[in-house]
Amino acid sequence: MGFCLMEWRGLWLLCVLLTITVTNKIRAISPDGQALLSFRTAVVSSDGVLLHWRPEDPDPCNWKGVKCDPKTKRVINLSIPYHKLSGSLSPDLGKLDQLKILALHNNNFYGAIPSELGNCSQLQRIYLQGNYLSESIPSELGELLELETLDISSNSLSGYIPRLLGKLDKLIYFNVSTNFLIGSIPLDGVLINFTESSFVGNRGLCGKQVNVTCKDDGGPGTNSHSSTSAQSQGARKKYSGRLLISASATVGALLLVALMCFWGCFLYKKFGKNDGKCLAMDVSGGASIVMFHGDLPYSSKDIIKKLETLNEEHIIGCGGFGKVYKLAMDDGNIFALKRIVKMNDGFDRFFERELEILGSIKHRYLVNLRGYCNSPTSKLLIYDFLPGGSLDEALHERSEQLDWDARLNIILGAAKGLAYLHHDCSPRIIHRDIKSSNILLDGNLEARVSDFGLAKLLEDEESHITTIVAGTFGYLAPEYMQSGRAKEKTDVYSFGVLVLEVLSGKRPTDASFIEKGLNIVGWLNFLVTENRQREIVDPRCEGIQTESLDALLSIAIQCVSSSPEDRPTMHRVVQLLESEVVTPCPSDFYDSNPE
Ligand SMILES: Nc1ncnc2c1ncn2[C@@H]1O[C@H](COP(=O)(O)OP(=O)(O)O)[C@@H](O)[C@H]1O
Ligand SMILES: *[C@@H]1O[C@H](CO)[C@@H](O)[C@H](O)[C@H]1NC(C)=O
Ligand SMILES: *[C@@H]1O[C@H](CO)[C@@H](O)[C@H](O)[C@H]1NC(C)=O
Ligand SMILES: *[C@@H]1O[C@H](CO)[C@@H](O)[C@H](O)[C@H]1NC(C)=O
Ligand SMILES: *[C@@H]1O[C@H](CO)[C@@H](O)[C@H](O)[C@H]1NC(C)=O
Ligand SMILES: *[C@@H]1O[C@H](CO)[C@@H](O)[C@H](O)[C@H]1NC(C)=O
Ligand SMILES: [Mg+2]
Repeated sequence: MGFCLMEWRGLWLLCVLLTITVTNKIRAISPDGQALLSFRTAVVSSDGVLLHWRPEDPDPCNWKGVKCDPKTKRVINLSIPYHKLSGSLSPDLGKLDQLKILALHNNNFYGAIPSELGNCSQLQRIYLQGNYLSESIPSELGELLELETLDISSNSLSGYIPRLLGKLDKLIYFNVSTNFLIGSIPLDGVLINFTESSFVGNRGLCGKQVNVTCKDDGGPGTNSHSSTSAQSQGARKKYSGRLLISASATVGALLLVALMCFWGCFLYKKFGKNDGKCLAMDVSGGASIVMFHGDLPYSSKDIIKKLETLNEEHIIGCGGFGKVYKLAMDDGNIFALKRIVKMNDGFDRFFERELEILGSIKHRYLVNLRGYCNSPTSKLLIYDFLPGGSLDEALHERSEQLDWDARLNIILGAAKGLAYLHHDCSPRIIHRDIKSSNILLDGNLEARVSDFGLAKLLEDEESHITTIVAGTFGYLAPEYMQSGRAKEKTDVYSFGVLVLEVLSGKRPTDASFIEKGLNIVGWLNFLVTENRQREIVDPRCEGIQTESLDALLSIAIQCVSSSPEDRPTMHRVVQLLESEVVTPCPSDFYDSNPE
């Protein structure tokens, strides 16, 4: 499989293709096996637990997490909790009609609970708690007359509790806690017997069971069918937002890795063991310097000599692509040096041509790439050094607070930089990695967008995954999470998340959102439904003007819309920012030309 490991989504695709071709070729596998293979196809990532489900087996009975009836070889137990499974639940689960136990709790499943589960008439226990399942509870579950346990707590389910669940005469354990359910809890059948602890932490449940009287305006009454479908349509709208969250949560595992790398880098910066030779070794084996536009007024020899002196003390940051060093020349000019470890040969040419293009892009709100050093082991990209560090640090690490005007100005600068990449560059450039650590600040807190084009450059290598690991997740648009295909509008989404981050002072995946099963976009969407969106603002931010806040929120809401067509272009964003958010000075209008 080595070849398909090249790329993350290539891998999915290949695995999907493999599954399809293999299932087509080998008719031998039992129908239950086929259903499970579709289940696996809908899983987009996991900790690897499903890797050894071999389509060439005659039946799935020895697959991990699967148990069969020894006589009939039909699947009776599918139990894969705590395996970071992410994706939707395949409706083909409904084909496992002898299934007694379905235990998929504490994974990252998203999307709806498939109503087809109602076909698994033998089901006795369903454990789906601790996922990101959304939309409403399918009333088809009421068909499962053998059901004893139904735990769907801690998901993102919305809508009403279906009355039909009251038919589940054998139900002993029922838990729908911590979802977004609303309406009156039906008093039908067995449902009357459950107490408050089965219902805690929902958005708006009422009824005898929770000792809350219902206002007489809804609930799953006789017309429950229409109301449920309206509800699920509403839920569908939110779905994409949730999708992102959950897909992000998948990447949560990766985040952990990233955190570890980051921590590693931090420790390295602080107490790094002395392998300062690293860089020197890079350049000693015969390096060459490529400068763009005479942007570096030094001889190659001078630069290389300087590079040889760099060691871990000069590290100013670590990211998905590698370490960043501070390079101070003798004449007082300072640069940032980004070390990208060499990829395979043959890639070089392509890489260099792309760098040439990136080096030709100059704009007031973009970080200037001045040249690079080409060595046998690495590429060392030489950028302008931005003394203000990254927006990420400014928002989350430094003690002094950015006030309202400073925040607006940063947002505007970032928007202009990005608009330039999207609309004024030829070829157009999709950034792909918009996040607060890629917005750098100069000494006057003016923003500059950095690392444009790099994600694309490196994505064909393993680095694609690194980009995501490096913290981009939380900023990624739902359709990008699904397809892996970047468009301008995926950048617009990330920009919207960035705006929310600047407004709230919280990282997109701040613990306070995650606790609620949401990320920053999910939280915003929730606040919007309650018309409380202003509450997202950082209380420590001084000088807020309500009018421009409302205008900015409305832009952010459009940018993080789950459907790309509803997001504005960056040009439009800049226009809106200038006309409605930033109080305009008469003489100060947008100039899209490079300096
Ligand atoms: N041109 C620069 N000037 C100043 N600091 C920089 C520059 N480029 C990068 N940095 C710092 O190095 C850190 C790591 O950068 P990078 O490798 O791009 O990773 P990431 O963008 O994922 O944080 C940044 O967060 C920033 O603090
Ligand atoms: C179902 O399978 C899981 C994992 O294989 C196992 O832990 C569990 O005990 C099984 N349940 C029953 C009732 O067989
Ligand atoms: C569920 O059962 C219905 C009717 O028995 C059938 O039409 C449908 O195809 C079944 N769905 C699945 C996924 O097996
Ligand atoms: C509710 O619980 C009581 C006592 O445990 C039992 O007698 C009754 O049958 C239950 N009702 C339903 C509908 O299951
Ligand atoms: C239901 O789940 C919630 C959240 O996991 C938990 O706090 C509660 O105790 C559970 N209720 C029952 C009846 O076990
Ligand atoms: C229900 O609420 C009422 C008034 O708030 C209270 O008197 C009663 O004890 C509560 N009953 C239960 C079962 O909690
Ligand atoms: Mg960066």
